[in-house]
Amino acid sequence: MAAPLLDAPQSRHALRRLSSKDITKEDLMSVMGPAVVVPPTDPEGDSGALEIAASMELARREIDGFRSATASHTTSTETLVTDKFAFAFDIDGVLIRGGKVIPAAIDAMKVLNGDNRYGIKIPYIFVTNGGGKTEQERCIQLSQQLQMEVSPGQFICGHTPMRELVQKYHTVLVVGGEGEKCREVAEGYGFKDVVTPGDIIKDNEATTPFRTLTEDEYKNSRARNFAEVDIEAILVFADSRDWASDQQIILDLLMSKNHRLGSRSDTYHDAPPVFFSHNDVVWSASHDLTRLGMGALRVSLEAMYKAVTGRALQTNAFGKPQLGTFQFATRLLRQWRLETHGIDSAPDTVYFVGDTPESDIRGTNEFDSSDSSENTWYSILVRTGVYQGGTTPTFAPRATVDNVLDAVRHGIEREYRNALKKAAAAEAEEAVA
Ligand code: G3P
Ligand code: MG
Repeated sequence: MAAPLLDAPQSRHALRRLSSKDITKEDLMSVMGPAVVVPPTDPEGDSGALEIAASMELARREIDGFRSATASHTTSTETLVTDKFAFAFDIDGVLIRGGKVIPAAIDAMKVLNGDNRYGIKIPYIFVTNGGGKTEQERCIQLSQQLQMEVSPGQFICGHTPMRELVQKYHTVLVVGGEGEKCREVAEGYGFKDVVTPGDIIKDNEATTPFRTLTEDEYKNSRARNFAEVDIEAILVFADSRDWASDQQIILDLLMSKNHRLGSRSDTYHDAPPVFFSHNDVVWSASHDLTRLGMGALRVSLEAMYKAVTGRALQTNAFGKPQLGTFQFATRLLRQWRLETHGIDSAPDTVYFVGDTPESDIRGTNEFDSSDSSENTWYSILVRTGVYQGGTTPTFAPRATVDNVLDAVRHGIEREYRNALKKAAAAEAEEAVA
């Protein structure tokens, strides 16, 4: 008896012919869309086609069951979108390394955008501690690197939450990054009066004995009489390009009277607050080994302040692992899913994929166990960045995988297994009811 031809599910995949002679369960499970099992040409052979066809039917039902259980929204191209789970991605060491895209990242994005055996789309956002340019600019760059559109509506960088400081401070010193970039970012956030180290050096070149401004820097800097300017806060937006002069200028301000440069306080009581956009002591750039990050500058500044004043310096940090950044990410994810997919409910699970245990994994775990998270935040550590494997991470992730593609697959398969378990439990309940 010839194997029954199954009605193929309506989808956009081409019909595949699988020989029942050498078909394997994996073949069945990896079937994307319609497939038919054809009996071996040699009628003598033991086909077992029926048994295989039955399990194929089971697998297809399971997949369809998962699709309808997990996805209730459709995109404009009729691709189902899941409202049950979402992803949040760190960037350096997960998607990008030293400005170059990590190959697995391209495939991971394709899987998230529907190229998976369930044919579902999974919403995702990006949460990086990096910074130093506007979110728009960073998203254009990331879109080119990942070969697909990245919107500022799904993107947070280290200094994004610092825009909330606009309400509190009028004149701020912004440190770090390339040229005038960070001033541009700060003014874009709405800070009324943004000062840079270049402005201070242009006003008094003796400020930094071993650093003179380049022609460009001199041209772009805005000289003022800083003895008359009340700099109310110090914001370190991105990695410093000159640790010595940036720390000299920050220390001058911390030790000044009434925030007036060129003065010295007797008590150091009225130092302006210092805010760092993150606290990563190391990060993964193009060098094989980790490089010093903004967190190392923070340690150095606090040590120098202690050495010069004999007093301890309290500074503040944004970015991961701060709960504030994960609360910000929760709001951004909600807005993004609503705007792009009309989903107005929180996902059950957010899979956070990171490479740095001290910021990505610690932050995700602490947010997950905090009262302010409305759902499960599941930490996945990859081996493509700061963490390279072979050691016990300082903060234990829920899962450790080689790269971001494996992380995406891990999350999807975990959801699939959970959906099956749920369906089986419901079925069992129905059976006894
Ligand atoms: O300077 C940024 C770096 O410390 C880490 O960036 O994307 O891994 O959070 P990211
Ligand atoms: Mg990273």
